[in-house]
Amino acid sequence: MSGNGLSSQAQGVKAVQTEAFPTSRIPVVNVATVPQRSPLRYPGGKTWLIPHIREWLRKTGPEILIEPFAGGAITSLTAVMERLVNAAVMVELDRDVAAFWRSALESGATLQKWIGQFEPTIERLRELERAIPATVTEHGFRTLVLNRTRRGGVLAPGASFSRNGENGRGLLSRWYPKTLATRLAAIQQHADRIAFCEGDGMKLLPLMLGGWGRKAAVFLDPPYTAHGGKRAGSRLYAHSSLDHAALFAMLAETDANFLMTYDAAPEIIDLVREHNFDAVCLSMKNGHHNQMSEIVITSEPLFA
Ligand SMILES: C[S@@+](CC[C@H](N)C(=O)[O-])C[C@H]1O[C@@H](n2cnc3c(N)ncnc32)[C@H](O)[C@@H]1O
Repeated sequence: MSGNGLSSQAQGVKAVQTEAFPTSRIPVVNVATVPQRSPLRYPGGKTWLIPHIREWLRKTGPEILIEPFAGGAITSLTAVMERLVNAAVMVELDRDVAAFWRSALESGATLQKWIGQFEPTIERLRELERAIPATVTEHGFRTLVLNRTRRGGVLAPGASFSRNGENGRGLLSRWYPKTLATRLAAIQQHADRIAFCEGDGMKLLPLMLGGWGRKAAVFLDPPYTAHGGKRAGSRLYAHSSLDHAALFAMLAETDANFLMTYDAAPEIIDLVREHNFDAVCLSMKNGHHNQMSEIVITSEPLFA
């Protein structure tokens, strides 16, 4: 999946067989058991997938992880911090998200200081929303604050602030200054092994693969949603349209070691079959307790 707008909550839900592909032998995890390493809340975040990521990287042993659609970048952060790879390269097209990653990697200490000083009142948030950031760090801080205080973590234009939020705490319901500072400090500790590129993952991926070849593993979580069609996608991300058929064709032309995740939609199932990729299904409940199916697509058989 990529972005149904709801955080995937897999607690207690057993994987079930879907018709298209075998069910993954790795069970869906309780997301509370996986360390949360990203300071960003991300619609379509991939915490539930981390056990698959660990096994994929341990079995294939790459030196570097490439994440061309980084978003909250849970996969890159986990791979680097758990030493599953030596280094990660993250790519993101969204300017706001890119500013966050640049500032987290280059000026994490300043972000931590500002987090400690910030009071997220509605007046301060409206001010921040209107302000034109003068530096990358200001821009990154603005992204973090809006991401943590807007409903569902949505950064796309038109997103509204959280009114009731968790436990009726409204704007403050996802603003945890100490936790955010701790996550930023951990990122800073590993910053020399993480590179960030602002740009189009579709264009950068072939160039990067040309350089690293089989030394690299590629994790792909492109913007996509089967459940709400294009409109839902554009509510979640400023950049929500992508040529999925071209992405599959690009991967088929290389011998890249990749793992890719999508909603189990008929057009995606057709693309997997067309290119003869390996795939397994996982079934879970999302934040609204709807059952949904995800496909994990790999360049070699791993999870069946
Ligand atoms: C589904 S989200 C990734 C979520 C991420 N896996 C996580 O766990 O947080 C997809 C991301 O791709 C970004 N994106 C969309 N088109 C892109 C492109 N052509 N190149 C790079 N990033 C792109 C979106 O802005 C969004 O942040």
